[in-house]
Amino acid sequence: GGTARYEAENAAINQGSVAANHLNFSGTGFVDYTNVTGSSVTFTVTTSATGAAPVTIRYANGTTTNRPMNVSVNGTLVASNVTFGATANWDTWADVTRTLNLVAGSNTVTLTATTANGGPNLDYVDV
Ligand code: GCU
Repeated sequence: GGTARYEAENAAINQGSVAANHLNFSGTGFVDYTNVTGSSVTFTVTTSATGAAPVTIRYANGTTTNRPMNVSVNGTLVASNVTFGATANWDTWADVTRTLNLVAGSNTVTLTATTANGGPNLDYVDV
């Protein structure tokens, strides 16, 4: 099957808000993580087959400091402190792609900030 896009503004947000005060995002906005450790966004994504699938995370980080996040799938931590490095500014978005093991049907993918700076601005995931 093809790639499906899941907009962050439609995901479950824990300590963050939907914003649209920067340029070049997909959909109607993006998630601005609250600048605290533990702020998170959970996507519910669907795949047709159990196995490894590339998951692309679109983000912006207009600071000069990495905004690392943990990645959990179906409640299990699968990647710690994934780097979300600086982009040129808050209007400039970049992709981080990780291969994640998903099950056929519905899965949750949670991206949790691990520093007091919170996460980067988050636009979508493609699965
Ligand atoms: C700025 C920027 C926000 C961003 C925030 C941050 O306020 O406008 O989009 O989320 O910095 O540092 O997280």
